[in-house]
Amino acid sequence: LNRILERRSIRRFANRPVSQKTFKTILRAGQRAPTSCGTQSYSFIEVRSMTKRIAITELVGETQALQSAPIWLFVCCDAARPMKIFETLKIDCHLGEVTRLVHSLIDTSLAAENIVIASESLGLASVFTIYHWKVLGEIAGLLHLPANVLPLLLLCIGYPAEKPPLRPRWRTEIVFHVDRYRLPAKGTILRQYNKSNTSLVRMGYFSKGVETLAQHWQRKFSTKDMILRERKLRRELKRLGFLPETL
Ligand SMILES: Cc1cc2nc3c(=O)[nH]c(=O)nc-3n(C[C@H](O)[C@H](O)[C@H](O)COP(=O)(O)O)c2cc1C
Repeated sequence: LNRILERRSIRRFANRPVSQKTFKTILRAGQRAPTSCGTQSYSFIEVRSMTKRIAITELVGETQALQSAPIWLFVCCDAARPMKIFETLKIDCHLGEVTRLVHSLIDTSLAAENIVIASESLGLASVFTIYHWKVLGEIAGLLHLPANVLPLLLLCIGYPAEKPPLRPRWRTEIVFHVDRYRLPAKGTILRQYNKSNTSLVRMGYFSKGVETLAQHWQRKFSTKDMILRERKLRRELKRLGFLPETL
């Protein structure tokens, strides 16, 4: 429990390899996560090849996490293997695109978090990254992904070389409801926001001209290219077979 309560994203890793035994244990822990109908709709792809690492870095841009992490693990939504298994077993399967997407998103996220917790419990650390979402098509090409495989997260794993402070979360009362949902009142939102923002400012969390959490979100979510990004994502998801053409 302490490992979970003390977990933080790590973006600077020690120059220390992770043994194959440890890595396999972590992958097995990933596989122990619950999975919809037992379909195990995920695949893990480790990028070992330096050529591919360089190509990915060129595509997504250099980041500290990618630079120093000994393990690069794409945690992928995988509906291709379940469908091939159903076909092999002659199962009359009519899983729709969106159902496949939802099932595999859940399975993959649960497996990914199990990998994170297992890593923590073995003294390792990690960070999820999604820089590659800008270049999904190119990543799919590099990793030879067929239709119905979506590289959801690129998980960087290694021994930590930093210990940033724990990042704030909303008070549990705000995210926990009994019997019925309630949106927090504006006053509560502002109080909570100010608390989080103050602690992030104190931690020196912001950079590149950003001074507050609101500015951070503003920059991330309302940039002009957001519409283009949404369009591109829809196109990619359709191409990969995770959204119906008609949507
Ligand atoms: C889906 C997802 C995508 C993320 N993408 C990135 C990323 O691209 N780069 C990064 O540095 N951190 C990334 N993170 C880590 C978050 O920034 C981090 O979890 C959050 O700031 C809270 O910090 P903590 O994990 O230390 O508590 C991602 C986390 C999630 C769950």
